[in-house]
Amino acid sequence: MANVLPVLWCTIHLVGVGMCMEGIEHNPVVYELMSEMAFRSQKVEVEDWLKSYSYRRYGQSNVEIQKAWAILYHTIYNCTDGIADHNKDYIVEFPDISPSSFSSQYSKRKIISHVRKHPRFLGEVSASLPQPHLWYSTEEAVKSLELFLKAGNGLSESLTYRYDLVDLTRQSLSKLANKVYLDAMDSYQKRDSSGLNFHTKKFLELIMDIETLLASDDNFLLGPWLETAKNLAMTEDERKQYEWNARTQVTMWYDDTKTEQSKLHDYANKFWSGLLKSYYHPRASKYFTRLSRSLQENRSFQLEEWRRDWISYCNEWQSGKELYPVKATGDALAISRSLFAKYFR
Ligand SMILES: *[C@@H]1O[C@H](CO)[C@@H](O)[C@H](O)[C@H]1NC(C)=O
Ligand SMILES: *[C@@H]1O[C@H](CO)[C@@H](O)[C@H](O)[C@H]1NC(C)=O
Repeated sequence: MANVLPVLWCTIHLVGVGMCMEGIEHNPVVYELMSEMAFRSQKVEVEDWLKSYSYRRYGQSNVEIQKAWAILYHTIYNCTDGIADHNKDYIVEFPDISPSSFSSQYSKRKIISHVRKHPRFLGEVSASLPQPHLWYSTEEAVKSLELFLKAGNGLSESLTYRYDLVDLTRQSLSKLANKVYLDAMDSYQKRDSSGLNFHTKKFLELIMDIETLLASDDNFLLGPWLETAKNLAMTEDERKQYEWNARTQVTMWYDDTKTEQSKLHDYANKFWSGLLKSYYHPRASKYFTRLSRSLQENRSFQLEEWRRDWISYCNEWQSGKELYPVKATGDALAISRSLFAKYFR
């Protein structure tokens, strides 16, 4: 979620209400309520407010959607652990570590149950395994998604409904992929090749399924980002430079060497169709291929070889010119339904 900074000049006359966001164009519900706050004298009853919000947002009153939003309010939109960090889901911020550098005694289940009770735990015992921040029950969020899908027949004409549906499906799948990644690491540490291959395949398939999902909504595409950058150019050189800038800003940034990723890599960590297929998938795939080979050959995982290979792929991608769609394709509701059936039923 973005940082929101209310700016209010209110000495004699109210002049304006403004917000200054670092990350924008997501979580519209936050900005909707935020911009009302200056006009309220009493505490807002968010649960009631949300009922009319979903009506205003989708143009129809719908009981299932109201229930879905009530769940979101108690889960995704209720982060109370005081941790304000960037999204570190493994797909968009793939760990730059060797799996032998963290001990298997801190296996997935232990980490998850322990972290729920002691959020600071990981920082103390294992600085090397990055943990995506999780402050809500993913099962509850999936229930909310199910209610969104139930409401789909009535609401699928609404662009805002489809946006929210795609976003919630995306997040549910990404959280699932985090678990699958940890399963893969677990298999590796147990030297279980077939387990590793099974979870790797699932992780990569999730990336491609999220790619297809995001491609169905204009708001989740890489293409418009690149095209708007190029359109600012007056000359061919500028065009080349602006495209490189736009590609670099959403991926590696600039201070990388042949074997060290930039300190700011994945700072933007966008879930955009185009990036998943051409950027996040090759990265994970190169990593897991080496991981599997290291088990077969009974030698340690060569982190530096992966970095060299990956960074060179990435630098080529940054200077690339291939085009990405600027218009959505596919039926968001149908895609979300089929992914729900595939992964959550
Ligand atoms: C948010 O979470 C806190 C801590 O778990 C809980 O006390 C509170 O009731 C929750 N609020 C909502 C709206 O669910
Ligand atoms: C793998 O290598 C280790 C030493 O590095 C050795 O102890 C072990 O027996 C080897 N395992 C196989 C299956 O070759």
